Amino acid sequence: MAHNKKRLAVFCSGTGSNFRALFRAVRERELPAEIVLCLSNRSQCGAFDFAHEQDIPTLHLSEKQFETFEEFSLAMVAALRERGIDFVLLAGYMRKVPDAVVEAFSDRIMNIHPALLPKFGGEGMYGIHVHTAVIAAGETESGASVHLVNEEYDKGRIVMQRKVPVLPSDTPESLAARVLECEHSLYPDALEKLLAGQS
Ligand code: GAR
Repeated sequence: MAHNKKRLAVFCSGTGSNFRALFRAVRERELPAEIVLCLSNRSQCGAFDFAHEQDIPTLHLSEKQFETFEEFSLAMVAALRERGIDFVLLAGYMRKVPDAVVEAFSDRIMNIHPALLPKFGGEGMYGIHVHTAVIAAGETESGASVHLVNEEYDKGRIVMQRKVPVLPSDTPESLAARVLECEHSLYPDALEKLLAGQS
């Protein structure tokens, strides 16, 4: 039922492999949703390359384009409202989402984090730094978490988690690759749950 499709915005900063996995899942699982926007704080990134290939509209929105952070926040809220966005999916978006956006889209923003929250989350815990910290702490397992976004960094309600082992031979890079592969199935599963209203 095309008219019931939820309108999704995916926020990215880098390669966008999670964005690709979400896009594929929407199509292959015939989810009642459509990705109608790819937003990035960077003017060029792998995520935008993929969006262009698939004719998904892109928006480069950075606080550097505005005089104040408040103007930036309001522009982001306006951009999402104008496009009738129902849900925002953060997929390797390396910025904190402005509070005004979190308020306007309360319980409608999800993030994927490359560790088992509440451990290894918070300020400075992103990308490779997370995996370096997990190995340094001597953990024997790590994984990925999908959570709802609230005003506190990485602290919103967890929607779904999946574990992977940490091997004695792991480097931050090899662990990152194992977690990323796990993310590519976890995030679509969490989206399916969100769309079914079970998050
Ligand atoms: C993913 O591992 C994601 O969990 C992580 O960045 C990577 C993005 O990869 N996100 C964070 O660290 C957010 N705090 P991708 O661009 O290939 O999806």
